[in-house]
Amino acid sequence: MQTKLDQLQAEFLAQLAEAQALLNEAADQAGKQAEELRIAFLGKKGRFAELMVGLKDLGNEEKAQVGKGVNQLKELVTNSISDLSQKAQTAIADLAVRSQWIDISLNPYQEEPGSLHPVSLMHLKLEEIFEAMGFTIYDGPQVETDHYNFEALNFDPHHPARDMHDTFFFKGGRLLRTQTSTIQIRAMEKLKPPFRIIGSGKVFRCERVDASHDACFHQLEGMMVDKDISVANLKHFMQVMLSGIFESEVKVRLRPGYFPFVEPGFELEMACLICGGEGCAVCKRVGWIELLGCGMVHPNVLRAGGIDPEEYSGFAFGMGTDRLAMMKYGISDIRPLHSGDLNFSRLFSAATHYRLG
Ligand code: DAH
Repeated sequence: MQTKLDQLQAEFLAQLAEAQALLNEAADQAGKQAEELRIAFLGKKGRFAELMVGLKDLGNEEKAQVGKGVNQLKELVTNSISDLSQKAQTAIADLAVRSQWIDISLNPYQEEPGSLHPVSLMHLKLEEIFEAMGFTIYDGPQVETDHYNFEALNFDPHHPARDMHDTFFFKGGRLLRTQTSTIQIRAMEKLKPPFRIIGSGKVFRCERVDASHDACFHQLEGMMVDKDISVANLKHFMQVMLSGIFESEVKVRLRPGYFPFVEPGFELEMACLICGGEGCAVCKRVGWIELLGCGMVHPNVLRAGGIDPEEYSGFAFGMGTDRLAMMKYGISDIRPLHSGDLNFSRLFSAATHYRLG
């Protein structure tokens, strides 16, 4: 019996050594083997269970002696296995930590806060001003039909004003909108008077690019339709808008201007904020700066929108927001606005924080 015990011990130690050798290279394998050893030696049908069967037949004295040896060996086996499995677990965890190691001494990734483009800032400001005055924001597509860009806006098919728009046409007759006035027509299709709307976005004209012209630029359009709307209302809303943008009292004046969709039509001018109307280089010595087109909505346009011009009247206005942003932020050339140059946009991050803060 004693020999059997010695053999078992030798066998166990040999297998244990084999499993321990795996700890460094293949800790998960060592862990598995620890479990296999536990089952093989200490399990219900394991080697110790077998030994116990043999013990039964021994005399009392020998039983006591051998039993002691069995218990000692069992303790050795139990402790060795649990030691092995603990070491395997620690080694597995160490390996995971090593493979997912992060160098916390490295400089953190420098996140740069984004900034809004000056034209976006201008649109946000305008929307804020007009929403406060009860206007709703409308939208329209950049690819348009002749109907929305010209016909419904009272441009006859051969009207010379069409030439002023240097339109980009697609095959099949569609075109890139040349003005956001298209949004007036789209809004009238959906709304019943009284209403007040604004709409803005990109417009396109086949322009030769220079410091003040680009083939793609931005406009904001507005329209108000109600009973008894007059030029006085138009002038008031324009004055409130410009004072809001330039954050000071702004003087405006209207001069006759021609646009097929308004009658009478006006060019609205603002007293130069640099010289206060005295005349300087910015206003080309005239004291006034041309800002936008506007007027009383033409009866044909109201009719095209399903509105009775005998009952309702309205005003409309439209302006280039790139130019407005240039005036507000002191930018003298339109080209960097559309260049995608981040260094240029970054100049406005302070303004962005101010606006959104
Ligand atoms: N759509 C005109 C343009 O692009 C600007 C304009 C003028 C809009 C008069 C209006 C308006 O709504 O009433 O030149």
